[in-house]
Amino acid sequence: MNFEIIKNIIPFLWPKNQFGFRIRVIIAFLSLIFAKVFTVLIPISLIWVVDSFEIKSHQTNDWFFLIFGSLSLIVIYNIFRILSVGFTQLRDAVFALVGQNASRKIALKAFSHIHSLSLSFHLTRKTGAISRIVERGVIGTEFLLRFLFFNIIPLIFEFILVIIILIYKFEIVYTFIVSICLILYSYFTFKITEWRVSIRKKMNQFDSDSNQKAIDGLLNYETVKYFNAEKYEMDRYNFSRKQYQKAAVKTSVTLALLNLGQTIIITTGLMSIMILSMREVNSGNLTLGSFVGLNAIIIQLSVPLNFLGTVYREIRQALVDLEAMFKIFSQKIEIKDKNNAKKLNIINSDIEFNNVHFSYNPERLILSNFSLHISKGTQIAIVGKTGSGKSTIARLLFRFYDPQQGDIYIDKQKISDVTLNSLHQNIGVVPQDTVLFNDTILYNLKYGNQNANFDQIQSAAKSACVDDFINSLPNGYNTVVGERGLKLSGGEKQRIGIARTILKNASIMLLDESTSSLDYTTEKNILANLRKDKNNSTMIVISHRLSAITDVDKIIVLNFGKIIEQGTHLELMNTEGEYFKLWKNQDVNMIY
Ligand SMILES: Nc1ncnc2c1ncn2[C@@H]1O[C@H](COP(=O)(O)OP(=O)(O)OP(=O)(O)O)[C@@H](O)[C@H]1O
Ligand SMILES: [Mg+2]
Repeated sequence: MNFEIIKNIIPFLWPKNQFGFRIRVIIAFLSLIFAKVFTVLIPISLIWVVDSFEIKSHQTNDWFFLIFGSLSLIVIYNIFRILSVGFTQLRDAVFALVGQNASRKIALKAFSHIHSLSLSFHLTRKTGAISRIVERGVIGTEFLLRFLFFNIIPLIFEFILVIIILIYKFEIVYTFIVSICLILYSYFTFKITEWRVSIRKKMNQFDSDSNQKAIDGLLNYETVKYFNAEKYEMDRYNFSRKQYQKAAVKTSVTLALLNLGQTIIITTGLMSIMILSMREVNSGNLTLGSFVGLNAIIIQLSVPLNFLGTVYREIRQALVDLEAMFKIFSQKIEIKDKNNAKKLNIINSDIEFNNVHFSYNPERLILSNFSLHISKGTQIAIVGKTGSGKSTIARLLFRFYDPQQGDIYIDKQKISDVTLNSLHQNIGVVPQDTVLFNDTILYNLKYGNQNANFDQIQSAAKSACVDDFINSLPNGYNTVVGERGLKLSGGEKQRIGIARTILKNASIMLLDESTSSLDYTTEKNILANLRKDKNNSTMIVISHRLSAITDVDKIIVLNFGKIIEQGTHLELMNTEGEYFKLWKNQDVNMIY
């Protein structure tokens, strides 16, 4: 068993400075003990009840039976039953809040950790897979708590109590038989369960495989139609469903085997005890009550044992799931605030890249010796072939990654020295692919600034030339945009993305191909609006369409991560260099 994981959970169950929770844990634990004591007292009191009949008929003077007649013993027997259940329920009720609180805190910690992990982590992991790991981890926490604290620990405690009573009240041979029986039972259960777990694993694999295929087919609905692939998709799905079916049948059959085996072991033990005690009753060494009581003790002990297989399997599964979740916790946060990080103090929004070297993988350098100075209030454009590193510059400025060499400054402050929060607050980014939340247009716009009033929102929409479009929709600003914004056209999505960033009102604006899906006139208008509205802010526009950026203050031409030319449109045209060539090749733009 992996104790490391259990150790990780304990701080969530025994939270610091939260005495309410600690008291609950203590009450739950005491209830657990009381519940088990009363459980074990049930068969014991049954012995008293039966013996009281026998002794009455012999007219004994035994003080115990004189004080407690059969009637009161029967009442006591039933009170014990109620108390046993009562304390069990009290334990569950008191512990519920502690358990739920622990799993919520663990989930919260996981999500907050995942949010602070680097972009490169997120790019290499599937989002669905991560959230499933956390989800399973949280369910795993609940299962682990429930089965460990509500099953295994009480079971061990009950077993110890039973053994004490057996040793105290009966011949040692009974303790021996019960112990052997339990060891055999547990061994058999664990072995068969191990085997069943492997079958179940396969079953789950086929299940997620077939789900994956079904979802993939549905997501690619259009592609499936374009290629007449319906039958192919059905066959693929059917194949993995059949595999699943086979494994599922196997789990049912092995479960029957497990249950049968368990019953045979318990019954054999019970029969041996009954035969032995029968002989003792006959010879007068054992009372009739003890015979009945022994039987009741064994049967009572076998009730929680029935679930041992399930409990074992679930605990194992929970530990595996929790391990996967704690692995995420151990992922180092690469980009984080330095210990003494200060807030970024923006005065001029002056940006400087100083001899920056950067690569995503050590084998391939993306930016080498990259230096660039952008002064306050200027609008610059970065152009260059696809893959030349334009978006990378934007990601470095936003500090999604840190360069391997060189530094980036905003107003003479190294961006790695200031807090990430203040850096992100001051940079407005419209990314290459705008993704929207599956909510209303208003919700998506408000994401730029939760405190904005409707007038501000509308004015941002106007600057992004999207207000007219929104008003033409039957539901206007309350239109729901669909998953990832798929119900909107590419250009509409981009304009909402721009409006959202305008609303953020950051002093540095970064537009990464964010007007690529727009027609030439709209693109020009938006850029002009931005320049007019944002006189004081520094703006970086990354664009493939050269005709849209002729008005900017400076154009940077990038090639394989190096600046090969820079200047205004006219200067660069006169130089007749690389920019001039790009321009000539893009003549088609002029037709717009
Ligand atoms: N996360 C990543 N891991 C590894 N390589 C990457 C990663 N992101 C980008 N690259 C590579 O870095 C290079 C520069 O990418 P970048 O996105 O900066 O190009 P770009 O100039 O913006 O191109 P485009 O005009 O097509 O948007 C590309 O060759 C790309 O394959
Ligand atoms: Mg790019």
